[in-house]
Amino acid sequence: MYDFTGKVCLVTGGTSGIGARVSERLVECGAQLIVLGRDPGKGFLLADQLGSACRFIECDVADAGRVERAFGIVRKDFGRLDCAFNNAGVTARYGAIADSCPDDWARVIGINLNGTYHSLRQELRMMAAQDGVGAIVNTSSCAGVVPIGGQVAYVASKHAINAMSQVAALEYARTGSGGSIRVNAIAPGPILGGMNNEERLKASPENTQRKIDVTAMKRFGTADEVANAVLWLLSDQASYVTGMVMPIDGGYGSGKF
Ligand SMILES: NC(=O)c1ccc[n+]([C@@H]2O[C@H](COP(=O)([O-])OP(=O)(O)OC[C@H]3O[C@@H](n4cnc5c(N)ncnc54)[C@H](OP(=O)(O)O)[C@@H]3O)[C@@H](O)[C@H]2O)c1
Repeated sequence: MYDFTGKVCLVTGGTSGIGARVSERLVECGAQLIVLGRDPGKGFLLADQLGSACRFIECDVADAGRVERAFGIVRKDFGRLDCAFNNAGVTARYGAIADSCPDDWARVIGINLNGTYHSLRQELRMMAAQDGVGAIVNTSSCAGVVPIGGQVAYVASKHAINAMSQVAALEYARTGSGGSIRVNAIAPGPILGGMNNEERLKASPENTQRKIDVTAMKRFGTADEVANAVLWLLSDQASYVTGMVMPIDGGYGSGKF
């Protein structure tokens, strides 16, 4: 069990799936948590469930102005930020590049890549201005490491998130105070819940089986298994780890089998 007592932590896309589980675990570990999300119904319900340690702020991360305003609230009401998990993301419509649609490309790049950039930029500014110390994890995907066909916007957005995380890791590995803001990415394989909720899995049994088959472990992962890695990367236990893209994928990216 990690100890986040006294730490102010922020999760984007914390209202369901992986983000919700990481949010629950951070609160269990003593953090003061801020969740950014689009859907106020889901957000205020989560905040009710997690109690006074959790504050929900409605924010579409694709909108730079809204992200700036949300961080203004964080600065005013919390005064500091120690850890952040940039997890908000969506999938693209399935289809080959020639058949894909520019609006869908813009939507997915807008949320996954631009949204991560807008959040990361505000987090780095806050952490650098306070004491130059912090930890950030960005959510990539196994598809951000090994490309898959039919999802060009998603694959491109996640590959770019890896690169952006590494650029940030280099820029903030040693800050003016002599401290570090560590920035890492996670690359989950197929995880149950969220984008792989029961309804979607049942709707397409063939697709579901394919997701299992591409893992070496022949199973889905769980949100808890992802949360274990995220909490470790955000904790002081990972104090010498920065610029890593960590697979949590049941061996999906390890090679052909
Ligand atoms: N599940 C998997 O198998 C898997 C595998 C690899 C990577 N991932 C990545 O893991 C992350 C979470 O996925 P998940 O499976 O847990 O899916 P999910 O349950 O659909 O979670 C996505 C979260 O992102 C939020 N979100 C979406 N657009 C947003 C926006 N414009 N502004 C703010 N929040 C926004 C959603 O909130 P609202 O409902 O309020 O919009 C929701 O909380 C994603 O980045 C995804 O690419 C998932």
